[in-house]
Amino acid sequence: MRMDMMMKKATYSKRYFEILEKRRNLPVWLQKQEFLQTFKKNQTVILVGETGSGKTTQIPQFVLEAVLDENPNPNPSGRKWLVGCTQPRRVAATSVSRRVAEEMDVQIGEEVGYTVRFEDCTSSRTVLKYLTDGMLLREAMADPLLSRYKAIVLDEAHERTLATDLLVGLLKQVLMNRPDIKLVVMSATLETNKFREYFLGAPLIKVPGRLHPVEILYTLEPEMDYLEAAINTVIQIHMCEPPGDVLLFLTGEEEIEEASSRIAGKLGDQVRVVPLYSTLPPALQQKIFDPTPDHVRKIVVSTNIAETSLTIDGIVYVVDPGFSKQKIYNPSTRAESLLVSPISQPSADQRAGRAGRTRPGKCFRLYTQRSFNDLEEKTVPEMLRSNLANTVLTLTKLGVNLVRFDFMDPPAPQTLSRALEDLYHLGALDDECNLTKTGEMMSEFPLDPQMAKMLIVSPQFNCSNEILSVSAMLSVPNCFIRPRGEAQKAADEAKSRFAHIDGDHLTLLNVFHAFLLNNQDPNWCYANFINYRAMKSAVSVREQLVRIMSRFKMKLCSTGFNSPDYYVNIRKALLAGYFMQVAHLDRTGHYLTVKDNNQVVHLHPSNCLDHKPEWVVYNEYVFTSRNFIRTVTHIRGEWLVDVAPSYYNLASFPNSETKRVLQKYYKKRVCEKKGAV
Ligand code: CDP
Ligand code: MG
Repeated sequence: MRMDMMMKKATYSKRYFEILEKRRNLPVWLQKQEFLQTFKKNQTVILVGETGSGKTTQIPQFVLEAVLDENPNPNPSGRKWLVGCTQPRRVAATSVSRRVAEEMDVQIGEEVGYTVRFEDCTSSRTVLKYLTDGMLLREAMADPLLSRYKAIVLDEAHERTLATDLLVGLLKQVLMNRPDIKLVVMSATLETNKFREYFLGAPLIKVPGRLHPVEILYTLEPEMDYLEAAINTVIQIHMCEPPGDVLLFLTGEEEIEEASSRIAGKLGDQVRVVPLYSTLPPALQQKIFDPTPDHVRKIVVSTNIAETSLTIDGIVYVVDPGFSKQKIYNPSTRAESLLVSPISQPSADQRAGRAGRTRPGKCFRLYTQRSFNDLEEKTVPEMLRSNLANTVLTLTKLGVNLVRFDFMDPPAPQTLSRALEDLYHLGALDDECNLTKTGEMMSEFPLDPQMAKMLIVSPQFNCSNEILSVSAMLSVPNCFIRPRGEAQKAADEAKSRFAHIDGDHLTLLNVFHAFLLNNQDPNWCYANFINYRAMKSAVSVREQLVRIMSRFKMKLCSTGFNSPDYYVNIRKALLAGYFMQVAHLDRTGHYLTVKDNNQVVHLHPSNCLDHKPEWVVYNEYVFTSRNFIRTVTHIRGEWLVDVAPSYYNLASFPNSETKRVLQKYYKKRVCEKKGAV
């Protein structure tokens, strides 16, 4: 009743009652009373339930109801508290909050809203907010006790993302300091005992799912080409199996688009193929929930999102090639990259489970039973396979003592010291690991520390306007569309018209300027093979970064296009942030990363350079069959000794060709200085 009062609702729509019927049938509703009682009696509750049992959509509403009961507030406009529910994926946060707004019969952004990086869809009326774990972490930086929240629901804890693991540690402290805040930790498969121990014996509620049996089929021989095998299996299923929708797991946008168009090409109107990945526009993401007409089979081709984050009803067949994109970090080479890697056993079981939602189903594993046995038995927490520079910066800003922090799984000391070192070179920490003024500012940007540093120093290079645009472009999905087949050549030609000979960062800047010059016209984008949505979000990201810069009174400036220093300044500013990501062209004709064991790397084929410069700065290290560096810009070696003398301190260099070249620069600089005197 109280909910109704808060919503000020006298009447609900017909749709509300239709959905309510469905909601009442979800397994978590059977345990609503048990949940509410446990929640009222305890500060922390752990809840484990099968995917699709209604955890993400229902539990936060139950929590809201309980909190409202205890905090009746007759004046909604004066309400200053919230219930928050975290999600590791932004797609889940946006999609689920929309669903919940519909269930509560309110407009999204009003009573129910969401906050993800660079997008805030909430208002002063919002009482239930879905947000990414990373966003809650950012909020904690400004408000360490999370004082606006009466309760936090930490969802998908089993994913063990970096941000979730950090939140778990922080929340443990917040709970001690704020007896009035409550925490619900939820997950599909959870190392239950580990979480209970960590939260000092918090009560556990188990929600039994409504899982039907799933028959698991393995291949007899390993598949050489999993994409090929996956497409064929889907076609086979459609030809030979009774009605029921299909869910195929692939690793990323490109594969998914290719498989989708090939399956649709082969099966035509008999099926409806729906792709699902995080960079897909929200309206298209929503299509996975649309029912298909009778006799038309739905085929969802998805990344890991469909493994536990989003539940699609009606799936009977799952095709699992056994791979996903995972973050891998090697602290000795300092390379962090997304790599297509074998999934873990619990992941494989989750995927299979998706087939048994509505009735008995089948899961086709495109690997042998033996390979399954060889898969990791546990998902390795992201904390143990990430570059921790950002994490350490966040924790330092939060005033957390790294040595005393209660990590669920402590990261390797080597990774931590590497992070501290990087932050020191970036000027974020001083000799004693205290946050500097620069570090303070860096932590305010929702960006990696190197990009934040680049923005902060850009006014010194008189090019903050341009660096803002480059940063925005680097923060959104790839803006270049490259279709397969005939249009590919036209797309490459279109791209070459934006190309800047000195590098990809400058090319991105050209695209951004051209988009503005053409009044942000979608038709112009279409004609030039540019992704309109990516460009729109770059514009919005830039506006938000401008706001942060203005808050710190950083100068927005530029030399103007006609200055001979225009591009040089931008390239120097790039280097001032990314000086740890530099490669040098060896006499053998190979690029070697500077320091970090001198890895041999290749320029990614997407690069725009028309020559092989001696020195390059890069944005990303990609390992596939070869090691590539992607988004590359030509810099001058002399600049290194100016922008990062502590990092390019020769004493710390291995004896290499690069070192000898650097030595020359240092000598030259000393001579120049003498000359000047
Ligand atoms: O979190 P959990 O996996 O336990 O389940 P959920 O995400 O709360 O989903 C519960 C039900 O809501 C499922 O049957 C979904 O299909 C449905 N749902 C929906 O119809 N549309 C959405 N956008 C999200 C969920
Ligand atoms: Mg869920």
